[in-house]
Amino acid sequence: MDLEKVLSGPLRRMNPRLAGWAYSGLRRVAPIRRRLEAEFEGVVAGMEEAVKPYREELTTYRRMPGIGLDRAEVLSLMKDLADREEAGWKDGFASGAVYHGQDDHVAFLSKVIEAHSQVNPLHADLWPSAIKFEAEVVAMTSSMLGAGETADEIVGTVTSGGTESILLAVKTYRDRAAGKRTKRPEIVAPVTAHVAFDKAAHYFGLKMVKVPVDETFRADVAATAGAVNRNTVVVVGSAPSFPHGTIDPITELSTLAAERGVGFHTDACLGGFVLPWADKLGYPVPPFDFRLPGVTSMSADTHKYGYAAKGTSVVMYRGRELRRHQYFTASDWPGGLYFSPTLAGSRPGALSAAAWAAMVSMGEDGYLDATAGILETAAEIRSGVETVPELNVLGDSLFVIAFGSEAVDIYQVMQRMSERGWSLTGLHHPPALHLAVTLRHTAAGVATRFLEDLQGSVDDVKAHPGEAGGVAPVYGMAATVPARAVVDDLLERYVDLLFEV
Ligand SMILES: Cc1ncc(COP(=O)(O)O)c(C=O)c1O
Repeated sequence: MDLEKVLSGPLRRMNPRLAGWAYSGLRRVAPIRRRLEAEFEGVVAGMEEAVKPYREELTTYRRMPGIGLDRAEVLSLMKDLADREEAGWKDGFASGAVYHGQDDHVAFLSKVIEAHSQVNPLHADLWPSAIKFEAEVVAMTSSMLGAGETADEIVGTVTSGGTESILLAVKTYRDRAAGKRTKRPEIVAPVTAHVAFDKAAHYFGLKMVKVPVDETFRADVAATAGAVNRNTVVVVGSAPSFPHGTIDPITELSTLAAERGVGFHTDACLGGFVLPWADKLGYPVPPFDFRLPGVTSMSADTHKYGYAAKGTSVVMYRGRELRRHQYFTASDWPGGLYFSPTLAGSRPGALSAAAWAAMVSMGEDGYLDATAGILETAAEIRSGVETVPELNVLGDSLFVIAFGSEAVDIYQVMQRMSERGWSLTGLHHPPALHLAVTLRHTAAGVATRFLEDLQGSVDDVKAHPGEAGGVAPVYGMAATVPARAVVDDLLERYVDLLFEV
């Protein structure tokens, strides 16, 4: 829409004063917008180079080859690309992303996937093994998260990832409230809750009510209490949150949700497969799971610290009645009697098989060992970052180390780290970076290399402030109000780019 045309046409006729005011505002931000847009052209070009590195080197298929390629050739190309891209994560240069990644574990999961590649859990009659695997993945995950310590039955389903688990939980609470007094159902969540809750609100027509976090980056309980009203269908807390790795006060939040008669979802997508073991190892882990009576649902990702292949998570509920609202059934479709527990219809049974295989082969002892290594490495990295005078660690976390700076532009530090091969996560509000520590970082020398590179990057930024390019300026500008719309636009252009050949 051409805003200038609207302002000088229809709005001017309807309300000349308002149109004049809006027009002068637009004139003021126009040069800023033009400057940002010009700057972003450069950023988009840089992004294009980064995500389309094979354009020059490999054949681009805009249509299928007339004669099918030789399978051995296809496989050799695939293997070659995978080998090259391993450099980005194998030696611990990435935050999160690959949570296990040891050769023998990856080879084991690949064999499981190969054996079950044709399986679709939609056809329970053809593949009852998939049904066994999924039911047991849910049971084992629930039992790890306090199911045995409550009188209530804890049930769930396997989904495709953390986002789908969250989408389904939100849809479930919306549907449970359907037909009640609620006008427009609302979610109450801390600003640090994963953005999948915003996506769920957007997809399913709920209102998202955000509450602030305190100086320790944990949800403000009083603000949450004030935000719950008769339209609230679910209150959310993270264990821990994606940005800062801090665990919200789940006891207080779930108690207040229960007192107000609304659901409470603990998002343990990131921490569900770490915190129970951290607790057993003696780390300070506040209660966050089904042992708390007010926790009515949870999400925990098998494809993160559950060490499965990518593409599975578990969403769990207190009681079958609640889970029913997640399902979709159709009894009058010409295609037959249909039911589907999750968003997808047909699903990759191989991934559920891999989640099951990862869990039973790791066992409790495997998860305990893995968690011990990760938490020791994270503590080493955390205390190393604390010794860099220009940086300050945010929040009190166990395995996600977030840090910002009052002294240097932290996004330029991110850029300097990426020039050294690191792929860290940029955070906003406040500006910061984080490293989610995984088994990839527990190998000898990785923590030391991270800390040395971090010190080197901070020194570079101090010596040459303002020189780092890349995404640093985008992060900087996304923090300013007039630039935000341009940044949103940039993000959409980036997504377009991904699907261009
Ligand atoms: C706390 C939390 N919740 C939800 C998600 C979303 O998970 P996914 O990327 O698997 O959809 C993440 C991802 O990092 C997360 O950290």
